Amino acid sequence: MPDVPPSAAVPTTPPDSPALPRAALPEAVAPTGQSSVVYLPHQWFAACESKALRRHPKPVTLQGVRLVLFRGADGAPAALLDRCPHRNVPLSRGSVVGGELECAYHGWRFESGGACTRVPGLCRDSGERGAASRRAPAFATRELDGFVWVYSTPDATPTTEPYRLPKLDAPGYTTVRRSVDFPGTLVATVENALDVPHTAFLHRGLFRGAGEPNRIDVRVTRTATSVEAEYIGEPRPEGLVGRMLSPSGGLVQHWDRFILPCVAQVEYRLGDENHFLVTSIMTPVDGHLTRAFAVLSFNLRVPGWLIQPFLAPIAMRIFKQDAEILGLQSEAGAFWGGERYVSTEIDILGAQIQRLLKRAADGRLGPDDKPWVKELVLEA
Ligand code: FES
Ligand SMILES: [Fe+2]
Repeated sequence: MPDVPPSAAVPTTPPDSPALPRAALPEAVAPTGQSSVVYLPHQWFAACESKALRRHPKPVTLQGVRLVLFRGADGAPAALLDRCPHRNVPLSRGSVVGGELECAYHGWRFESGGACTRVPGLCRDSGERGAASRRAPAFATRELDGFVWVYSTPDATPTTEPYRLPKLDAPGYTTVRRSVDFPGTLVATVENALDVPHTAFLHRGLFRGAGEPNRIDVRVTRTATSVEAEYIGEPRPEGLVGRMLSPSGGLVQHWDRFILPCVAQVEYRLGDENHFLVTSIMTPVDGHLTRAFAVLSFNLRVPGWLIQPFLAPIAMRIFKQDAEILGLQSEAGAFWGGERYVSTEIDILGAQIQRLLKRAADGRLGPDDKPWVKELVLEA
C-alpha cells in the first residue's frame, strides 16, 4: 500500500484521549441521554407472517430478544428462547423432528412448551430438578389473521389476546399485505405512520401537498390503551392517491389511531362508496429497527383489481421515503447522544404515543380521558 503523505492523512482522535467532560459542552449541544426505546412486557407482537413459518425453525428477534419459532406436532406455532440450555447454541440452527425442536449440537429436543424431551446418550436422568434446568423459556403464541403473534414475557399466561384485523375477507374488500423495515424506534416509527404534517412535505404530491391549505378541526380521543385523531371537514387530499381514490373530490372522513402496543391505523372514507384502511402492525425488532406489517384493506368504487397495480407501488414509494427519513432521525439520535425534540400543537399524536408506550413499559395504564378538539391548518 503506498504511503499516504502526512498532509492527506485524516486527523483522528487518539484512542486514549480523554472524552470531553460533559460539563464542558454548551447545553445546546450536550447529549440528553434521552431515548424513546421502550421494552414492553406482557404484550402481543406479530413475530412473522404465518406463511413465513413452515417446516424449518425460524429465528426472529423481538425487542432485542432472540427467539426461535417452529411448528409443533399439531401445526400450531411455538416460540422458545433461541438459546439451547445445554451449551447455548442457537436452537434455530437445529431442525424440527416430529413436532419437536432438535438442537444441532448434541441433539437435545424440546417440545412446544420448552420442556426438554430427549438428551441423546443419557441413561440415568437426574429427575425433575434436572428436567427443570434443561427447559428452554417459552413464549405464548397465537396464529391469527395471517400472523404468528408472540407474547413478550416468557413463561407467562397471557391476560389479553392479540389485536384482530378489521375488514379482512369482508365482502367487497381487497386486501394487500406488505412488510417494510424501518430503521427507527417503535415510538418514532408509530409516530411517523400517524403523522399528518410530514405527508405534505416529505411525500409532496403523492398524497398531500398538491392543493391549498385548509383549516380543519381534529378531535382527539384517548383511552387507557389507545389514542385516536379524527379529522373533521378535511377535503379530499389533492395528491396522486387522493385523486385516484375519489376523482370527483368531496369531503373525507379520516381517522388516525394508535392502539397499544403495536397498531398504527389510518382510515379514510370518501362518500359511501370508498373505504380505505391501512393497519400497520409494528414489531420492535430491537431499539433501532421496527418491522411494519402493513395490511391495506379497501372497498372502492373503482374495482380493487384495477387499482391494486397502481396503489401498491405508490404505497411502497411512500414507505421508502419514510424509511430513509427515520434512518436519518435514528442516526442523528445516536450521534448526538439522545433525542431532543421540540413539538408544536400540530404534532398531534407523537406525545400521546410516547406517553402510552412509556406507561405500558412501566406496566401502569392510565384512565380513559375526555376527548378534546384542536383546530389546525392542513395542506390538502
Ligand atoms: S448445545 Fe444444544 S444440545 Fe448441546
Ligand atoms: Fe410518511
